[in-house]
Amino acid sequence: MIEILSAGPDGIARAATLLRDGRLVAFGTETVYGLGADATNSAAVAAIFAAKGRPRFNPLICHYPVAAAAWEDTIPTALAHALAAAFWPGPLTMVLPRRAGSAVALLTGAGLETLAVRVPANRSARLLLAAANRPIAAPSANLSGQVSPTSAAHVLAGLRDRLAAVVDTGPSEVGVESTVLDLSGATPVLLRPGGATLEALEAIAGPILRAGPPDDPLAPRSPGQLASHYAPALPVRLDATAALPDEALLAFGPPCPGAGTVFQLSERSDLAEAAARLFEGLRWLDSEGHRLGARAIAAMPIPPHGLGLAIDDRLRRAAAPRV
Ligand code: TXA
Ligand code: MG
Repeated sequence: MIEILSAGPDGIARAATLLRDGRLVAFGTETVYGLGADATNSAAVAAIFAAKGRPRFNPLICHYPVAAAAWEDTIPTALAHALAAAFWPGPLTMVLPRRAGSAVALLTGAGLETLAVRVPANRSARLLLAAANRPIAAPSANLSGQVSPTSAAHVLAGLRDRLAAVVDTGPSEVGVESTVLDLSGATPVLLRPGGATLEALEAIAGPILRAGPPDDPLAPRSPGQLASHYAPALPVRLDATAALPDEALLAFGPPCPGAGTVFQLSERSDLAEAAARLFEGLRWLDSEGHRLGARAIAAMPIPPHGLGLAIDDRLRRAAAPRV
């Protein structure tokens, strides 16, 4: 039986004990809910891959309560220090050279020479990470290929029978995953757009290279960048300027013509509100939209700046041919 824990002191203490015992515990962060395990325990990390049904080659992010703890496992550059000061705690993941002697299991980083690290902003998550007192590996707490969870209920819908516990920290405020920035080479490379905007990052880092198309098999810089990674069950059509009779609409701003069943991301075209509601909307259209007769999802265009870059990226994956 999965334990559903509150974010109070007792729930946090219980969750930390379970993590230290090598069990799987899902917990909320400001981006999405994570499926956590002790990153130094390879059996616990293997259990993450098993629970998600996730391909083995996909490296995981290590989570820490403070930047100083992240530097025990990685070698930060001057830029990494500057970005940590500006963005942590918050939705930025940095890929850095792994420090020799780090206790993080090789399986966590899929055997790479680099490690992805982040300090999440959610207060309860940081209390849990501090109580666990070790790096916690955590991919999004969903079955592989499904939409990321932004509430404890979403986690339970996909993984109820596969976890020791979930800590209910309320809805994830940002709603899309962290931005993944590779700082292990000469120039910073954006591996995944996310909650920290490219504009804000470039204000500190200078120009940032964009990784190749996510489905380019010759350049798998970030193995998690599989094209069809965020897939609802219904097919998704992008950049809709009108809805067809059998389509449910994912609206951004005033709904376009033809709309019947609508999930509104943001009536006032606010990108932060839309990001926070994105995965909720895809889930709702999949279940309620489908129940009401929709056979596909039409998504209205999202402006490709700020958080719109991350929203647009997730929608493109949701629409990509299924692998
Ligand atoms: O917001 C988030 O980042 C959430 C919450 C739970 O923190 N976590 C998350 O983890 O989205 P996951 O495992 O779904 O995505 C991790 C991404 C993948 O695209 C993976 O390929 C990339 O980070 N990644 C991890 N380690 C890497 C490394 N050493 N080099 C390049 N990419 C790496
Ligand atoms: Mg994921």
